[in-house]
Amino acid sequence: MEFSIKSGKAEKQACDCVIVGIYESGKLSPAATSIDQASNGFIANVLKHGDMDGKLASTLLLHHVPGIQSHRVLLVGLGKSGEAKASCYRKAVSASIKALAKTGTKHVASYLLEMDLPKECVTWKTAQFVEAAQDSLYHFGVMKGQATQKDQSKKEKIVGIDIYVSDVSAADAAETGLQQGLALSSGVSLAKDLGNLPPNVCTPTYLADQALAMVKTHGLTVQILEREEMQKLGMGSFLGVAQGSVQPPKLIVLQHLKGKKTDKPVVLVGKGITFDTGGISIKPGAEMDEMKYDMCGAASVLGTFKAIAEMDLPLNVVGIIPACENMPDGNAIRPGDVLTSMSGQTIEVLNTDAEGRLILCDALTYAEKFEPALVIDIATLTGACVIALGHHASGLFSNQDTLAHELISAGEQALDRAWHMPLWEDYQPQLDSNFADMANIGGRAGGSITAACFLSRFTKKYHWAHLDIAGTAWKSGKEKGSTGRPVPLLTGFLKNRADKLNN
Ligand code: BES
Ligand code: MN
Ligand code: ZN
Repeated sequence: MEFSIKSGKAEKQACDCVIVGIYESGKLSPAATSIDQASNGFIANVLKHGDMDGKLASTLLLHHVPGIQSHRVLLVGLGKSGEAKASCYRKAVSASIKALAKTGTKHVASYLLEMDLPKECVTWKTAQFVEAAQDSLYHFGVMKGQATQKDQSKKEKIVGIDIYVSDVSAADAAETGLQQGLALSSGVSLAKDLGNLPPNVCTPTYLADQALAMVKTHGLTVQILEREEMQKLGMGSFLGVAQGSVQPPKLIVLQHLKGKKTDKPVVLVGKGITFDTGGISIKPGAEMDEMKYDMCGAASVLGTFKAIAEMDLPLNVVGIIPACENMPDGNAIRPGDVLTSMSGQTIEVLNTDAEGRLILCDALTYAEKFEPALVIDIATLTGACVIALGHHASGLFSNQDTLAHELISAGEQALDRAWHMPLWEDYQPQLDSNFADMANIGGRAGGSITAACFLSRFTKKYHWAHLDIAGTAWKSGKEKGSTGRPVPLLTGFLKNRADKLNN
């Protein structure tokens, strides 16, 4: 897919389709107005007959509009004018691209930058356009048989989208947005692919190989720690989870050091359970296949590294990914086992299905070695978070309010939101154990909070935030698939930080 920034009149573009917006009031966007004038009121006539009401994200495809160079015109509903939110813009973009993907359209001219938004600038609109378009066209087909793949590749596809600015003076800002959008969507797409791959392919070793492959293409430093090295470091908690699987565990360490030498790094830690059966506390069978997505935290770290590498972001960032499988086995840990973590704190395993925190705690202790400015961990940690927030917001927990607010606002900007959850001392006693320093579960009440409380016992030495992405990393049901979240939030956060440090 090729995107480019252009300017010019909508009626003059000789392409397969021109996309123009219509408001719910019947008001035409400037490009829709100029098409209407060139076609002697063709659009106004369509609206008069009630075929398009301008409702947000509704679409109507018109062929052979008289006086127009393009083969088709796609009318897209922009909703109520004057009160459009950023999320409405994204919905309108997604709806138009999805509508065109079903047609023979190859070359598109979009005039959706014209949509009135009170707060967002041309750069933001262009970046969002690119990301929403790529998101709508994403397809995971590599595991289909060859015959199916051939059929798919025969279908005509959109190959080029020209994004029109209303004035050439806006072209530079749009170009900046285009580059940001491309970098971000390639990170999101990597995160989606890794999530969607089956667990017999996407093993800890596969994740390590993906990281290593990025050394050549993206100029990162990558180091893979094997079981023996982790034993020396005393990572008894992580290795406890890993011991039930024949897949060897990997601790993947990535470094993007493009900031000032003296700047302390931001450390991202991603949960990389490539399949979570629950272990001896085995999960029920229904939807267990979705536990292949239990490495989406890891995937979001790799995706974010890809995005910031493509942006060449002037910032120091370290990624740490503990990757293993959680399997039941003769050698697996059992409920009642006591593990000694790298921090020296002991943990009574009361449920082997609360394994995410067991691998993260050692990775969080390992993070200290990088003298971080701050640490963010990303994990599909608890079903309880899905009950609390559903599938719209990731859960955000932090031991530092400024950091929490920066992440919340980056999420809002990126349309990849998180919601601030409590991390009060009041919840800590739920983790008391009679036999070790702490238990690995805190009962049913406030399950996502006690999971965060567990992690907080390993993050006392630095500013830290935890994103529970159990509800946001993938979709279930008919549209089952990875979302690539929270790559947009993380990339936006890092970009804001780089902008601040370098200005
Ligand atoms: N990976 C799961 C969390 C999860 C479950 C995410 C379902 C999305 C959907 C995690 O390892 C887990 O099993 N957590 C347990 C914790 C419990 C045993 C305290 C859970 O949420 O049930
Ligand atoms: Mn589990
Ligand atoms: Zn898990």
